[in-house]
Amino acid sequence: MGKSIEQIESEALKALEAVSDLENVELLSTKYLGRKGEVTSFLRSLSKLPQEKRAEAGKKANQIKKTLEAAFNEAIEKFEAATSQTGDEIDVSLPGRPVPRGTLHPVTRITNQICEIFTRLGFDIAEGPEVETDYYNFEALNFPKEHPARDMQDTFFVSDNIVLRTHTSPLQVRVMEKQSPPVRIVAPGKVFRCDSDITHTPMFHQVEGLMVDEGVSFGDLKGILTTFIHQIFDDEISLRFRPSFFPFTEPSAEVDILCVICRGKGCRVCSKTGWLEILGSGMVHPAVFENVNYDTPKYTGFAFGMGVERIAMLKYGIDDLRIFFNNDVRFLRQF
Ligand code: DAH
Repeated sequence: MGKSIEQIESEALKALEAVSDLENVELLSTKYLGRKGEVTSFLRSLSKLPQEKRAEAGKKANQIKKTLEAAFNEAIEKFEAATSQTGDEIDVSLPGRPVPRGTLHPVTRITNQICEIFTRLGFDIAEGPEVETDYYNFEALNFPKEHPARDMQDTFFVSDNIVLRTHTSPLQVRVMEKQSPPVRIVAPGKVFRCDSDITHTPMFHQVEGLMVDEGVSFGDLKGILTTFIHQIFDDEISLRFRPSFFPFTEPSAEVDILCVICRGKGCRVCSKTGWLEILGSGMVHPAVFENVNYDTPKYTGFAFGMGVERIAMLKYGIDDLRIFFNNDVRFLRQF
């Protein structure tokens, strides 16, 4: 015959009294109340008793089990409270541990600077979804289905009609659908292209610009962009407009700026040309206005789109695009 339940109880309580830390309370608890513990085994052994004795013995044993559980819980709480107490061992006069402060990512800083300049010129900020429909990313911008101009941008498809936006130009359409002229917005954000090498990352940032009103001309586009470039770099940086093609602008122009590194002498960054390609632009194509039900002869407008990383690299003298996205704090802390 093994121990009686009363014996087990008094042994357990005595052992518990002798214990001086949490770890040993937990060990004892397992010894008595664990799945293979003495109390548990005792309860299990009751099934061997004749039926008439079983009920009473079971009741008694369960009561004792409860008493022991309460005693163990109390001891656990007592030791836990003791270890978390702010007693003499903590010197409250010590200076606090400094919480390391982060900094804004260089791409965020430059995006903010670009938006501030345009805000001062009277532009509002617009935002839109990064997962975009084929309609807004292409169709409404006058890229017909199967049109070769779609190949200029290697698209990530989510499904047949849903893409990761390849540029911020869909914001032109989204804004004009909601607002009648005059419109003056810049739209910063992430864009995605299936492209990865020293000068391309699959995700990068653009800022789109759009201005529509009666009598907006190419001269206004030149004036606004010149003011912008002078403010983000300096007054000496001249601009050059080169004819180009975009489906949603006509005429279209690529804008180069004087190389900010060599000031036109020719260097590695500008491939010895003295010029840097910085953005795409043009007069909004009438087909785009038709898609948003704008009165096309009455209203005219210009649009432009620029890459933020490119401007950040020039401003900070960074020669590898990829380090923006490696998350190396030694690099990011410098800004
Ligand atoms: N969306 C074009 C791209 O990502 C850039 C661009 C060109 C935007 C001309 C414009 C524009 O608004 O007028 O390549």
